[in-house]
Amino acid sequence: MAVQGEDRLKAENERLRAELAEQRSRSGEDERQLERYASDLRDIFKAERARAEELRDSYVATVRALTNAVEARDAYTGKHAERVAAYGLLLTRGIEPALADDPQTEFGFLLHDVGKVAIPDQVLHKPEDLRSDETRVMRRHVVIGWEIVSRVPFLERAAEIVRAHHERWDGTGYPDGLAGEEIPLAARIFSVADTLDALTTDRPYRRGVSMPEACEVISRAAGSQFDSAVVAQLVATPHEVLESIRDQTE
Ligand SMILES: [Fe+2]
Repeated sequence: MAVQGEDRLKAENERLRAELAEQRSRSGEDERQLERYASDLRDIFKAERARAEELRDSYVATVRALTNAVEARDAYTGKHAERVAAYGLLLTRGIEPALADDPQTEFGFLLHDVGKVAIPDQVLHKPEDLRSDETRVMRRHVVIGWEIVSRVPFLERAAEIVRAHHERWDGTGYPDGLAGEEIPLAARIFSVADTLDALTTDRPYRRGVSMPEACEVISRAAGSQFDSAVVAQLVATPHEVLESIRDQTE
């Protein structure tokens, strides 16, 4: 009897051991499966990120190609769009960092004059003052630019900057005569950056002024042509920082 009981106990022991071993191997298999899932997810995530970066790079390349096409016609402005974008982003970062982080802000700054592709040479390159009918033609570049850019999906906010980049704080700008905060903030910042660049670069008919002089001229137009808050940000920026942007993108 005792021997029989011992055998049963042994058999039971072995069965439990086998069951435990099987459970262990099953949970090992589950663990390996989970690791495989995690590694697959990591690969998918990495591939997604690479694709997003590629897409962004191709956007930047496209925007730069368009910008260069415009600047190629306007020989004296040199790297105007690049400088304005750099001044503009610097000011934007100090006023509203989230706006500076939005790539569309830089795209809008770079593409502001893309509509000039449709302006005839005799108007675009006329050395004398424009007649009123020619001024009307020249001013169309903002709406033409907006029409070009707003057709590109995901560039809606950049298109707003293109359209509003010649609006003035006091409402006397074009094309819509917007005033004050009706003008998108990025466009208000842009117009300060644009004027800063125009004043500080040499043109065939005049030499550019120094950075402190340009800031002084712009300050005088705070509250009329420009948003005072943007002008305050410009005035708070050390001249050397602005000069290094000017010198890097000559
Ligand atoms: Fe313009």
